[in-house]
Amino acid sequence: MPPIANLILYCRAGFENECAAEIADVAAALGVPGYCKAKPSAGYVLYVPHDPVHAADLRNIGVDQLVFARQVVLGVEFLNQLPVTDRLQAVLPAIQRLGREFGDLRLETADTNEAKELSVFCRKFAAPLRQALQKGGVAVGTAGTPNLHLFFLSSTAVHLGWSIPDRASPWLMGIPRLKFPTGAPSRSTLKLEEAFLTFLSERERADKLKPGMSAVDLGAAPGGWTWQLVKRGLRVAAVDNGPMAEALMASGLVEHCRIDGFRYRPAQPVDWLVCDIVEQPSRIAALMGRWLAEGQCRNAIFNLKLPMKRRYEEVRRCGEIIEAAVAGGPLAGRVRFKQLYHDREEVTGYVGA
Ligand SMILES: C[S@@+](CC[C@H](N)C(=O)[O-])C[C@H]1O[C@@H](n2cnc3c(N)ncnc32)[C@H](O)[C@@H]1O
Repeated sequence: MPPIANLILYCRAGFENECAAEIADVAAALGVPGYCKAKPSAGYVLYVPHDPVHAADLRNIGVDQLVFARQVVLGVEFLNQLPVTDRLQAVLPAIQRLGREFGDLRLETADTNEAKELSVFCRKFAAPLRQALQKGGVAVGTAGTPNLHLFFLSSTAVHLGWSIPDRASPWLMGIPRLKFPTGAPSRSTLKLEEAFLTFLSERERADKLKPGMSAVDLGAAPGGWTWQLVKRGLRVAAVDNGPMAEALMASGLVEHCRIDGFRYRPAQPVDWLVCDIVEQPSRIAALMGRWLAEGQCRNAIFNLKLPMKRRYEEVRRCGEIIEAAVAGGPLAGRVRFKQLYHDREEVTGYVGA
């Protein structure tokens, strides 16, 4: 493989600064200091190591350990001014230099409005590229091999790179394409579904979300998150002064508690605490910390609505609040955050044994 030139991080447009600050910290801690190239609202960040000798260590960075990056791609070459009449001729040799066997082929763009047209181009380019790869002796679909990424900035400029399946997002552009489920009371439902997919493995989902288990949903109305839990057969105490969707109440699995989520306490410890209350992040973090530290829930998923400024710092501060609460216990060091695709100016947190 040719040497790694940079790390390409895909993120939500508008969160480039947060993504850059975070990767600079993580890479420096790993002994790969460098600098970021990030344009406002571009939807991606490039991290360039100061010393190419250490660039190989960037392979150790997994997307799971980052809050603001949806995908991490090890960039090897930037191809600019591709000939419009024959892009394949320019792209194919560069891919052949990169490797001969790949798990998957991903033609991607940043997740921005401007790039929407470009994704149409990517879809059209995929079939001829696959054919050319096959003819050119590059196999795609070999399990256990790196994924090949072509991250297009325009139809004539592309970053070529690869990712390690274990350390990267399994989804194209790092975005899970979830369908809005019929019958769910609100679009927020997709946040919790994505959180389950992001933070829990298939095995964990089967083990930790079983019929008969118990949950509390703070800030539940109209019930999108409760709906995800009920769908899996959990009994839910839905805490909110607002009205819950009637169909959900008819399931018989939901108890609607019209009280303040900051005062509610369960009679017995529950398997899950979920919380989507719109409040200051540090207040939510303190609330989650208290439930977890007192053993009132075994797992928690919660949303933090971020302020306009110093958002990365705020997430770190909230992490510290929860870590301080659970210090010395089995949940110490197990606080994770991710800005999910279905999150907006928010991040989602998960703590679980
Ligand atoms: C973003 S909505 C929740 C949406 C819900 N997760 C869904 O999927 O349908 C926030 C909810 O928090 C509730 N809320 C705000 N402050 C609260 C508090 N202190 N205690 C309980 N609920 C609260 C609001 O009434 C509102 O229904």
